[in-house]
Amino acid sequence: MAIRIDYSNMIGEAAGGISEADWTSAAGGFAKSHAGFAALRRSGSVGFADIVSDEQLRDQSLNYASLAEGKYDDVVILGIGGSALGPIALRTALRPGAWNMLSSGSRDGLPRLQVLDNVDPETISALLERLDLSRTLFIVTSKSGGTAETMSQFLIVHQRVIEASLKPDDHFVFVTDPAQGALRPLAHRLGVPALDIPPSVGGRFSVLTPVGTLPAALIGIDVAELLRGASDMVARCETDKLAENPAGIYGTLQWLADTKYGKAINVFMPYSDPLRDFAAWFVQLWAESLGKHLPDGGSVGQTPLAALGATDQHSQVQLFMEGPKNKVVTFVAVEERGADVVIPKAFDDVKELGYLGGHSLGELIGIEQRATAGALARRGRPNLTIHLDRVDAWHVGGLMMLLELATAYAGQLYGIDAFNQPGVELAKQFAYALLGRPGADAARKEWDSLPNPDSRWSV
Ligand code: PA5
Repeated sequence: MAIRIDYSNMIGEAAGGISEADWTSAAGGFAKSHAGFAALRRSGSVGFADIVSDEQLRDQSLNYASLAEGKYDDVVILGIGGSALGPIALRTALRPGAWNMLSSGSRDGLPRLQVLDNVDPETISALLERLDLSRTLFIVTSKSGGTAETMSQFLIVHQRVIEASLKPDDHFVFVTDPAQGALRPLAHRLGVPALDIPPSVGGRFSVLTPVGTLPAALIGIDVAELLRGASDMVARCETDKLAENPAGIYGTLQWLADTKYGKAINVFMPYSDPLRDFAAWFVQLWAESLGKHLPDGGSVGQTPLAALGATDQHSQVQLFMEGPKNKVVTFVAVEERGADVVIPKAFDDVKELGYLGGHSLGELIGIEQRATAGALARRGRPNLTIHLDRVDAWHVGGLMMLLELATAYAGQLYGIDAFNQPGVELAKQFAYALLGRPGADAARKEWDSLPNPDSRWSV
């Protein structure tokens, strides 16, 4: 079992990458960023790397899932942002069949998992129409315990559960901060069980807490193995020697490529359908953590962009090959796949078909990834490849931790706080003001002072 990063196409002029001299001198900066992050861990303020070995936290999910066995056909997460993207990524990677809204009945005796991560009324109406509430569990996930989208969904679903004369404690479980926010006291009031998101773990770093492990356990993902993969990555990254620390290498390469070589975009491109939603999880992690103001008024952050191989070879790769030289491409290659299909030998006399026969689809997708990486490097477009032996719980846990640690190191290198998100606050306050939430008077005033839309600029 292994996770390996090949970054030869990131270093040296030929691939348009970082000079060897810059890379060698980055080691000192990384050691400082490693120390900065270690201090945050020691202080207890940032806990995502340490909770993966917290057995009590893991058992909250495993115990709940074992009590729930056989009771539900559908599990529905109500949550948004970090409360949704991690569980979606886990489901697609590790239980690809567990999402199908249209299939009747559960699969292998395990429930389907749906994630309502938006407040578009069409989606929630369609889902509620299809569900048999008496066989459905709703996981309400919110670290802050007060997010408007999630609370609205909860209010709607709670009313449906009551109207159906069902008991809330049989159909809801909350995942939230142990002390803060409205969900915890509401859990006591309704007698609904509540699992913990430790105070030191923020939304987009929370996938390996009950935010991800509870739904994962309910749909039959091997949670212990997921956490083992993550713990193994934490151990590999204890060193402050850049050349030996995979997350350090990833974070430092991206930071250097962005700040010194103008690579403002980081394309995340797995060659694997199971990792399709993993890319969306990474996009949130990288964007919300690193896109920040600096104390001197400047702004930093590399824009993450999701792509999928080989599909995007017929779409975005044209831009990556010939568009502005402002990108780094992160490929994820998978060595062994859960299934493979051999392409039959036929139509030997047809040039476009004959050469394919006898190869397998696994071989084809792997060759296409190598060919694209090579072609980009040949055109002076830096890229790196994260190799996974296979997409299983151990590797997915390890890859998540690799990228979370890389984000933490990159935050230190940029000189910003990777764990807050002040930039989303103003729009939230404006929405509160427009909805009449108590305490939003200042935001209402600011909103009212904004210029009205100018009719000259509207058609
Ligand atoms: O990463 C984050 O902190 C955010 O994306 C949150 O996950 C998102 O805003 C949802 O917040 P909460 O879990 O408090 O409802």
